[in-house]
Amino acid sequence: MEGKRDNEFITTYRALIKREGADKLLDYLMTKSDFFTAPASSKFHNDFEGGLLDHSLNVYHRLVKLLEGEYGETWREKYSPESVAIVGLLHDVCKVNYYTVDYRNVKSKDTGAWEKVPYYKVEDTLPYGHGEKSVYIIGGFMRLSREEAMAINWHMGGFDDRARGGSFTVSAAFQEYPLAVLTHTADFLATYLDEKKEEDAE
Ligand SMILES: [Fe+2]
Ligand SMILES: [Fe+2]
Repeated sequence: MEGKRDNEFITTYRALIKREGADKLLDYLMTKSDFFTAPASSKFHNDFEGGLLDHSLNVYHRLVKLLEGEYGETWREKYSPESVAIVGLLHDVCKVNYYTVDYRNVKSKDTGAWEKVPYYKVEDTLPYGHGEKSVYIIGGFMRLSREEAMAINWHMGGFDDRARGGSFTVSAAFQEYPLAVLTHTADFLATYLDEKKEEDAE
């Protein structure tokens, strides 16, 4: 799968996200982070260069589809397209400056010789968590509404480390904020349907 969708991201971002500080955040992503080249994971979904960018767009498109399915064309009366773009495109900015490339020795299937093969490993330069870290990074540039913050913070749903540690706070958030439920669902659909690994699909 081709992982480079820079223009689509930048065009969508600039067209929909006009909030004070939005330009500074985009500048940070473009010039001070690896957002446009980072993978979305080390070995699960979209573990290739540009995978994070690709995943962010996939989640945004899935979220719009879910909103249309749930509320019809009038979803824009309920949620602003700006909110939906912020939540979809930026939910995983916690993954910038997070992966580095390392090498492992692998025996070549063709020649039997050992060769160095690159792989992504986690090197978290800002260990703050996951959804909460995205909220923290975005908050350094622009204000989020309560519902946007909830949706980004809890986008991992039951897979979030806090939930896996026994916290029920995510359920309370989902009861109260439908956008958080839809964002988690969009993340799940993008990860397991849009980004299904090719070897699994065969
Ligand atoms: Fe995530
Ligand atoms: Fe995600």
